Amino acid sequence: MPKPTQQTRLPVAVMVSGTGRHLNHLAQLASSGELPIEICLCISSRAGVGALQFAGHWNIPVEVPDPARDLSPEAYGEMIFAMLEERGVQTVILAGFLRFLPIPARWENRVLNIHPSLLPAFGGAGYYGRHVHAAVIKRGCTLSGCTVHYVDNVFDNGPILVQRSCKVHASDDSDTLASRVFEQELIAYPEAIRMHLARMAESER
Ligand code: GAR
Repeated sequence: MPKPTQQTRLPVAVMVSGTGRHLNHLAQLASSGELPIEICLCISSRAGVGALQFAGHWNIPVEVPDPARDLSPEAYGEMIFAMLEERGVQTVILAGFLRFLPIPARWENRVLNIHPSLLPAFGGAGYYGRHVHAAVIKRGCTLSGCTVHYVDNVFDNGPILVQRSCKVHASDDSDTLASRVFEQELIAYPEAIRMHLARMAESER
């Protein structure tokens, strides 16, 4: 199969708040031609996070709007989407982005998120990163996993694209479970982005 040309790559922004392993992985796949996206912009909710080093490594422009968190969620959302539209971004990939982002109607089904549980279990306010895995273990679940979904204006609520599961072992702590779930996340996000690309192509016919 021929590698996608620059013209056939979907212009995306990746939004981060932390270590940026997904940003790095998606940039690798984009660079090798395995995923036909172009990461035009990395937006971080915070300055100084590890993800920004990955952005630098891949020469991805970075913005850290409103780092002091002065803006209301509505004003923050308006600023972000104006920035994205100005740069021609067509799809937003939330990758560990931990600030509430109101989604305008015109962006419906164009903002994706990954969550480290099998939604709708262990989603919503307060469930992120290690907190999710600690809650899964405390509840005695024997299965966990991850979910990629379209984002709407309720936390961890929008239509689901991909879910992948893994076992929870009796010996797990939140770190060991996080690692096992993350292995599935690395498969789930590219798969979901490919599904999204196929849906976009279908809707353009
Ligand atoms: C990922 O495990 C992702 O599922 C989680 O944050 C991590 C980001 O890792 N997201 C959430 O908890 C969202 N509620 P990364 O910064 O290394 O890509």
